[in-house]
Amino acid sequence: MIQSPAFYRSVVRPLLFALPPERAQSVADFGFRRPWLWRALGRSSGEWDERLAVDLAGMKLRNPVGLAAGYDKNFDMLPALASLGFGYVLGGTVVARPQSGNPSPRVIRDRRRESLINSLGFPSRGLDYAIERLESGGRPSGVPVFGSVSGVAVGDVVRCHEGLQPLVDAVELNISSPNTAGLRVFQEPGALSELLGRINDGRSKPLFVKLPPYDAGDDGSELRERVLALVGECLRHGTDGLTVANTHPTKDARLAVGEGGLSGRAIFERTVAMVAEVRAETGGRAAINASGGIFTGEDARRAIEAGATTVQVLTGLIYRGPGIARAITGEMLAPGQAGP
Ligand SMILES: Cc1cc2nc3c(=O)[nH]c(=O)nc-3n(C[C@H](O)[C@H](O)[C@H](O)COP(=O)(O)O)c2cc1C
Repeated sequence: MIQSPAFYRSVVRPLLFALPPERAQSVADFGFRRPWLWRALGRSSGEWDERLAVDLAGMKLRNPVGLAAGYDKNFDMLPALASLGFGYVLGGTVVARPQSGNPSPRVIRDRRRESLINSLGFPSRGLDYAIERLESGGRPSGVPVFGSVSGVAVGDVVRCHEGLQPLVDAVELNISSPNTAGLRVFQEPGALSELLGRINDGRSKPLFVKLPPYDAGDDGSELRERVLALVGECLRHGTDGLTVANTHPTKDARLAVGEGGLSGRAIFERTVAMVAEVRAETGGRAAINASGGIFTGEDARRAIEAGATTVQVLTGLIYRGPGIARAITGEMLAPGQAGP
């Protein structure tokens, strides 16, 4: 029942949304730290249907719906999250050393638009903790696990990549969180090129780069030119895939730091437009993971039609609940029928 979108919307979500967002997340996390509960509640369904299987950088995924980076920053809950029907799950973003992130309030809801604005700034228990979690039963079986890494210095990011790579199926390099000013250093093509070169020296697993968002179609935009130059660097370095994209920078006085990143339905159309443009730029030489406002099977279908191989979900999980991956895969198999 807890995985039923209707039950979540009418019973669970009102209770969770009565709490401040980070408090609500702690309550949900309490459940997700108990994988046996979710295995017991799990039911077989469309997520295993052969028609949904996709190849992502040589990995066979049971379906194209992934859990995006940032929900389980420290690899504490992946076994439970993987049992919700995702085709893959991302842990992280992991940084080299523990850090607490930005001051609160740092997550706010925009309920009308089923969106969030966050300025978390990478709260993380650090690389050593993530390694320990992955080595001590934090890996789900049967569902590929990706690890998201980041940092503001080449050496730190390379260390995170080296540390996580043996324990995950693929690594996503996050150069695009709007909440860590120093991170933008890797949004400069020369700096990204140096970083990718260093990562490639020790690389044995697929690598994805998570791009910063821009407004597609805005031909004169300096940001668009820069992001497309980053795409060129990724292709030159043989990056397997691009995640398009991250939260959209926005100002909001309710956040302690005054600005953050917008996610959820409010950015969906921009995600689809950017996927199409990046697909045209790559000509299919790198896979695309669409991230931004994916809530339904129809959203997934549109992102895939625009050129994505997979879609990733985060804000949708908070608004639509733990049944979202199964709802999306069910809707992809029977368009126009299911749906929350
Ligand atoms: C609360 C929150 C935390 C996030 N943390 C991370 C993170 O640690 N690393 C990362 O690459 N993206 C992070 N993101 C961005 C998401 O992975 C995703 O790219 C973005 O939210 C757009 O997708 P969505 O609309 O499905 O949420 C975070 C987003 C939210 C809302």
